[in-house]
Amino acid sequence: MTEEQSAVLVTGASGGIGAATARLLLDRGHDVVAHHGRRREAVDALVSHAESMGRRCWPVQADLGEMSGVQHLVSEVDRLLVEHDSLPLKGLVNNAAKLLGPSFDAADPDDFDLYLAINARAPFFLTQQLSRRMTTGGSIVNVSSAGVHFSSPGDIVYAMSKAAVEALTRHAAEALAPRGIRINAVVPGFTDNGHPAFQDPAIRTYMAGFSVLDDVAAVEDVARAIGFLLSEDSRRTTGTLLDVSGGSTLGARPRTAGKVSLRSVVEEVAPLVPAPGASAQDEHVG
Ligand SMILES: NC(=O)c1ccc[n+]([C@@H]2O[C@H](COP(=O)([O-])OP(=O)(O)OC[C@H]3O[C@@H](n4cnc5c(N)ncnc54)[C@H](OP(=O)(O)O)[C@@H]3O)[C@@H](O)[C@H]2O)c1
Repeated sequence: MTEEQSAVLVTGASGGIGAATARLLLDRGHDVVAHHGRRREAVDALVSHAESMGRRCWPVQADLGEMSGVQHLVSEVDRLLVEHDSLPLKGLVNNAAKLLGPSFDAADPDDFDLYLAINARAPFFLTQQLSRRMTTGGSIVNVSSAGVHFSSPGDIVYAMSKAAVEALTRHAAEALAPRGIRINAVVPGFTDNGHPAFQDPAIRTYMAGFSVLDDVAAVEDVARAIGFLLSEDSRRTTGTLLDVSGGSTLGARPRTAGKVSLRSVVEEVAPLVPAPGASAQDEHVG
């Protein structure tokens, strides 16, 4: 992606990885449509950052668990592009997700549908709809999870939703290629998104144990990989997964890791604490 004036939509720009990605794109000269769910204040900080650099950042709220929310986001992107001199849409980052899904034993159909709606259905329809607004050189980046690639029955529904994201990446690549649009995915492992659990030494050590590199990732590590896949530097890359998990998918993990889920560790060692501005229902560890 060249740095001519163009817009990129980042979903979940109020979260850890989404905010870091939006900031990186603003720093690289793009305008950003910063989608958020319940946390508007996190996106307000991005708007201030954009203004300080003479760029534009437009917040859009939408519940991606509902198709009406997906349609609202598409309409808002359309409106913003038209209002700003037919600004080209050069990128889409399907980052928003509901983390820490229910376990194999606990999942009920409503949980299942909600995870699949937010994590898989919304990226599919945003990709289908917004790729129609892109021209040659457009790039779509999905955010998957290392959790797809090792077994953890406690996180099965979340992992299934992310497996669908990886399938979307592979299958849409062929559909989009004739229009010169690429689609790829990043595969993060544990990434410090600001959730208080990452400050707990026992939980952090447990999470770092999945990686063959030190520690967990910083959100900027994932954002840079997304930035690469959005850029012209990856112009021959489509339909692929870029692992940014520090080797978490290689199989070297704590001996107990297959026996417990992240949910159980977080709940046992430090009951989930809502992130600032979030409700007690929020789950921000992936
Ligand atoms: N952090 C990790 O360890 C990790 C590991 C592997 C993969 N990932 C993936 O990385 C991506 C970003 O995760 P993160 O760690 O940055 O998480 P995060 O800080 O919890 O951010 C999640 C984002 O998704 C949005 N979101 C959640 N449900 C939504 C809904 N129903 N409608 C609209 N927006 C919704 C949230 O919006 P609001 O907060 O405004 O409601 C927030 O912006 C996700 O796809 C996640 O699966 C993360």
